Amino acid sequence: MTTTTSSDLDRLAHLAARSVALIESLQDADGAYPASPTFSAYQGYSWFRDGAFIADGMSAAGAVESASRFFDWCDRMLDQRRDHVAEIVAAEAAGTPLPDDRMLPTRFTFDGGEGDDDWWDFQTDGYGTWVWACVTHASRHGLDVARWRQGIRLSVDYLLATWRRPCYDWWEEHREEVHVSTLGCVIAGLEAAANAAVLQPDVESAAREAALQARQLIAERGSHDGHLSKWLGSTALDGSLAAVIAPLGVIDATSSLGLASIRAIESDLSVDGGVHRYLLDTFYGGGQWPLLSCFLGLAHARAGDREAAMRLLVWAAGTETAEGFMPEQVPDHLLDASRRDEWIERWGPVATPLLWSHAMFVRLAVELDVMPAARLERKVGA
Ligand code: BGC
Repeated sequence: MTTTTSSDLDRLAHLAARSVALIESLQDADGAYPASPTFSAYQGYSWFRDGAFIADGMSAAGAVESASRFFDWCDRMLDQRRDHVAEIVAAEAAGTPLPDDRMLPTRFTFDGGEGDDDWWDFQTDGYGTWVWACVTHASRHGLDVARWRQGIRLSVDYLLATWRRPCYDWWEEHREEVHVSTLGCVIAGLEAAANAAVLQPDVESAAREAALQARQLIAERGSHDGHLSKWLGSTALDGSLAAVIAPLGVIDATSSLGLASIRAIESDLSVDGGVHRYLLDTFYGGGQWPLLSCFLGLAHARAGDREAAMRLLVWAAGTETAEGFMPEQVPDHLLDASRRDEWIERWGPVATPLLWSHAMFVRLAVELDVMPAARLERKVGA
């Protein structure tokens, strides 16, 4: 049993408060959250996936304006692609679906462009996650969700047309599979939109029906040995599956599937509290990701195990660099050390700071009352 002293709690609260300030200081004037301000391959881009979870962390911490501005930006990204969404939907309805490279992008430049760099673009999860985060934010702070109605509607149209298709996962890999974490994000988004009273009645029913079918797919083909699996029909695990339990809440943390998934991630992917993406990961040698430790912490907290959640928060805090930045991953326990250097040569040192790491730390700190949201509300976004 570990005990957390009041000076430990102060240190954790301090890092959470500094993380909120760092994210605010790096948010673009138009609302986008950069994935990482300095990392070669991410510089100048904002992802719906990272951004949605960052906004959720900021919202939970009381940085209401910052989160709202990010959702305004998402809303604009979609509005600017209204014709593109209509084209995707019409092609799907006509039985002649557009190819993957004609789908919406995964990341955008801050001014709404798509940039000149190639990326593994077709990923549906972010379009569900931002809708979930946006609706959650509006209800958390009593805001009128109609402000983001157009973007939510376009996202739902896009997801209804594409959700069954295999696409790249959270890690931009395995485009030939249907990923359970991706389905979790899509379900969370469709259900949030359907419950937000912003959809036309027929679309609302279609969203509920699609979410139900996606849930059935997970129930029938999305688990192995009692725990959630990386993709439909796979026996492997993935650290991102913890997010489907919390904060997305698609799988109940106290259900047998929820508890077995938490146990499996803990025993197979976590080493001393640092969580790997998956066992065959070789990206930068396959280190441990603080943001995944925080997702697992959130899942533990939802299952009622505060001590386990606190242990993960403490581990994540330990990844902070001397400059006060949290990295994407740390190399203390590599799954394949022989593969680290090739990435350093290709893209430079690990992305640091990664805003998503800071935001997940904040989200778990709020969940564990280490950083009371009300205290920040007065300082941030005033
Ligand atoms: C990860 C993505 C993430 C992106 C930006 C990539 O290396 O695979 O999950 O969205 O970095 O942080």
